[in-house]
Amino acid sequence: MIVTIDGPAGAGKSSAARELARRLDFQFLDTGAMYRAVTLAAQREGIDLADADALLRVAKGCEITATGDQVTLNGQDVTREIRASSVTAATHHAADHQGVRAHLTELQRHAGRHRDIVTEGRDQATVVFRDAECKIYLTASEEVRAERRYIDLVNRGERVSLQDVLDQQRDRDGRDKARPQGGLAKADGAIRVSTDGMSHDEVVAKLMDIVQQCK
Ligand code: C5P
Repeated sequence: MIVTIDGPAGAGKSSAARELARRLDFQFLDTGAMYRAVTLAAQREGIDLADADALLRVAKGCEITATGDQVTLNGQDVTREIRASSVTAATHHAADHQGVRAHLTELQRHAGRHRDIVTEGRDQATVVFRDAECKIYLTASEEVRAERRYIDLVNRGERVSLQDVLDQQRDRDGRDKARPQGGLAKADGAIRVSTDGMSHDEVVAKLMDIVQQCK
């Protein structure tokens, strides 16, 4: 069974999807982490991220795992590093690149082959797993999402203002929705869940209910 969870940044997809997968005993896949890992690899190699050929070469040359508690890049734990603002701000290069998207789509499909999986991202129901048995669109208001990200960054020791986080999020939402291929959109038949005012446990319980109904 394939469960897709798509939605905008900060809707709480990652933590909810991870816990859902644990409870169902399904494989978990964080596809945003894959775009982030490619970005980090390119930054480490010092290439110009706007250089499409170089970016594709880096993407094809790196080995990424994004299915467990840790995200690894070429065998090294990069779980924390890929969440830095510098990576977040540059990830659009990889996400806008059709060749990189095609490559990562292939890896994502491979991860879901012959396995029960909970996968989260932007295009999991609309592009990568169009035939998924259970499609969820997880969202929350702009303010709630920005506040979550702000608290997360402050806890990491980054010095940011809530307004900056909100502005960057609007920018990212705009880019995510405008992307011609793999852009953020609710798939036909996907069930919309707004997490405003819901605790983590309530969100997971709601998702469990939805999955049971899809079975
Ligand atoms: O979900 P997360 O914020 O980690 O994703 C990082 C970026 O990767 C997003 O802003 C989006 O542009 C991109 N992304 C994507 N397709 C996905 C997952 C993420 O384009 N399936």
